[in-house]
This record gives sequence, C-alpha cells and structure tokens, in this order.
Amino acid sequence: MATPTNNRKPGVIILGGCGFIGRNLAAYLVEKELVSYIRIVDKVPPQTAWLNKKHQLIFENPIIEFKSANLINPVSCQNAFVADVPIDYVFNCAGETKSGQTDPVYREGIYKLSINCAQHAAKLGVKRFVEISTGNMSSSEKAPHKEDDPTDPWTFIAKHKLQVENDLKNIPGLKYTILRPAIVYGIADKSGLAPRLVVGAVYKHLGEMMKLLWGPSLHMNTVHIIDVARALWHVAIRDDTISQVYNVVDEDDSTQGSISAMVSELFNINHDYWGNTLSTLAKTDMSTVVEEVNDKHMGPWAEACNKDGIENSPLSPYIDQELLYNKHLYLYNGKLLKTGFNYNYPKVTKELLKEILDDYVTMKIFPHSLML
Ligand SMILES: NC(=O)c1ccc[n+]([C@@H]2O[C@H](COP(=O)([O-])OP(=O)(O)OC[C@H]3O[C@@H](n4cnc5c(N)ncnc54)[C@H](O)[C@@H]3O)[C@@H](O)[C@H]2O)c1
Repeated sequence: MATPTNNRKPGVIILGGCGFIGRNLAAYLVEKELVSYIRIVDKVPPQTAWLNKKHQLIFENPIIEFKSANLINPVSCQNAFVADVPIDYVFNCAGETKSGQTDPVYREGIYKLSINCAQHAAKLGVKRFVEISTGNMSSSEKAPHKEDDPTDPWTFIAKHKLQVENDLKNIPGLKYTILRPAIVYGIADKSGLAPRLVVGAVYKHLGEMMKLLWGPSLHMNTVHIIDVARALWHVAIRDDTISQVYNVVDEDDSTQGSISAMVSELFNINHDYWGNTLSTLAKTDMSTVVEEVNDKHMGPWAEACNKDGIENSPLSPYIDQELLYNKHLYLYNGKLLKTGFNYNYPKVTKELLKEILDDYVTMKIFPHSLML
C-alpha cells in the first residue's frame, strides 16, 4: 500500500522563474494543481520583473517561495538548492538572454550557470533536471532540423547552450532532459516575437511601409508559451525522456512572411522586403545596417510611448544583428509528438499576437493609441 508521502504532489524548483518562460511555467503548475511546492529562484525580484496582474497573483500563492540568487555565484547557487521540502524536479529557465553581450558574459551566464545548477540538482538526487536549450542549432532551410542532425549553432547563446547539452552527460547521477524551443511567443514575451510587434507599431506611428531584410520564406518557427510550459512538465515526469533532447515547435512552420503578414494586419500597415540581392549587400556591412535600422526604430518608439504617457517600458523594437542574418530557424517536431505530446496552439494566429499586445496595453507599457 502506498504511504501518504508517496501520494504527495511533487515539489519543484524553477530557476529563472521570474523570466518569461519561468513565470508562465509557475502559472501553469499552480493553475493545474500539479505540484505542492514551487521555489522560484531568480536574480531579479518579482517586484521589478514586470509581472502582469495574473502573474502577480500567482506569485502570491502560498505554495510559491521566492529565493533571490545569482546562479553564476557558487555560494549563491548552493543556497538556492537548500530545501526543507523534497524537490522532485528542477527546471532551468535561467540564463543570459540579453543580446549583444561578449562571449565571456555568455560563457558565465549560460554555460557556468547551467552546469553549476545541474551539479546541485544531481547532488539533491532530483528525479529530473530539465534544461531549456535553444532551437538555433542549425541555419539550413533544406529540411527541418532533427535533434540528432549535425549541429552548427548560429548565435552566441546557442554555442554555449550546445556545450551545456554536451556536458550534462558527464555529471554523475544527473537525470536530465533537454528542450530546444523555437521562437517562444505569448503573454509576457519580450524577446521572441515581441520586438517584431513593436517594430510594426513603430511603422504605424511613422505612417510608413515596414521594410524587412531578406524575403518572406525565411523560416522563423514558433511555439506558444503555454505549450512550452506543458512540454516542460510532460518531459519531466516521463521515464522514457531521460537523457533525451527534444525540439519544441508548433505545426505552423512560421516564416518571416507569415509573421509579418499578421503584424501588418494587426497595425493596418503595409510591408515589403529588400530582397536577397540588396540584403546581401547589406550583409557586407551588417553592423552599420543594423545600427541604422535600430536607430530608425528607437526614436519613434520613444516618441510613441511619450505621446501616450508611458515613461518606462521593458519593450523595445531593438533586434540584434545575429537575428537579422539570413539564417533559418526550421525545426522538426516529430520526436516530441512520438512521446504522446500534442500542441494546444498548433498555429500562430493574429488573435494570439493581439493577446500579448492587449496585456501590455493594460500594463501601460505599450502605447494604447497604436492599437486603434
Ligand atoms: N524566449 C524564447 O523565445 C526562447 C527560445 C529558445 C530558448 N530560450 C531559452 O529559454 C530560457 C528562458 O528564456 P526566457 O525567454 O524566459 O528569458 P528571460 O530573460 O525572460 O528569463 C531568464 C530569467 O533568468 C534570470 N537569470 C539570468 N541570469 C541569472 C543568474 N545569473 N542568476 C539568477 N537568475 C538569472 C533572469 O533574471 C530572468 O528572469 C533561456 O535560457 C533562453 O535562452 C528562450
């Protein structure tokens, strides 16, 4: 007969729990009543993490405990794992996600952080350490990238994530699973599709046509945040997912064309492309082009915010140079589907994108007049 302790719901740690994916995972676990205890660890406190009302309420739930820690620091990291209650699963949603940092910053903020945390999770003997890696492991457009295909990571972040993926297998006793998400979008997104939405808003403010590099067929595969939260839990609790890597990507095969069409419709603007020839010319002096493009957007964005009385916003139209190259994010989703996972949001819709903007308007961090 099962003892009462066997019936208890699991306890979990969410590293980087104040971030976009972390807070949505916490909300999912609380709403579905899947766990008895959630420790959120982050270097940013919830009070300054730009949580919306719903997430603020979730964070007030008595099963959630916040612990401040800088996970790069060994002592701070160790403290983050000291727990009075049994911890079954650790989800690593923490890591340096700001673009344009130097290589050593990413090395510390991604590689060192993940390995530190994985070592502590192994010492705790948790049932699973789930590491969020990234889908940017190949830039080819020939065929959707499978988990076991050769890798050629094309962002600084992806290079360090791949090293983490490779080194997790050397940590004795660690039971881990790795997820490689496509571009994640949904409520609280700031770096996935959000900059594209903000750029659309800028062109509405300017009353100009939105001009984009390359063409509409550039693959920019996507996945909804709720499906990412569901996938994190799905792989954590299954034995057949131990030591496995899974792409997490919807069935939409999103492209720059499909996303831009929705952004244009949302803001009632027109868009066009510079095309491959002009864009290739731009590539020879990409940093100047990127600076000019971002400069063109930043001023009007600040102006539009001012006009609507927004003094401070974490949103920005800034798109990093790395993400403006002609590199495809094109992922195969069959492996995760084979484990019985299905997508609640198989396609990006205009309505799902509008939900993100409406939330930001309510939070007064996005100009409401641009939504009219
Ligand atoms: N959002 C996406 O589209 C996407 C796509 C693929 C992969 N990922 C990966 O998923 C993970 C989570 O992404 P996100 O979008 O939620 O990012 P995010 O920036 O919103 O969240 C990361 C969180 O980690 C925390 N953090 C960073 N360094 C820390 C440190 N040293 N100590 C403690 N806390 C620290 C941050 O404060 C933040 O709250 C990242 O590893 C990211 O690379 C994200």
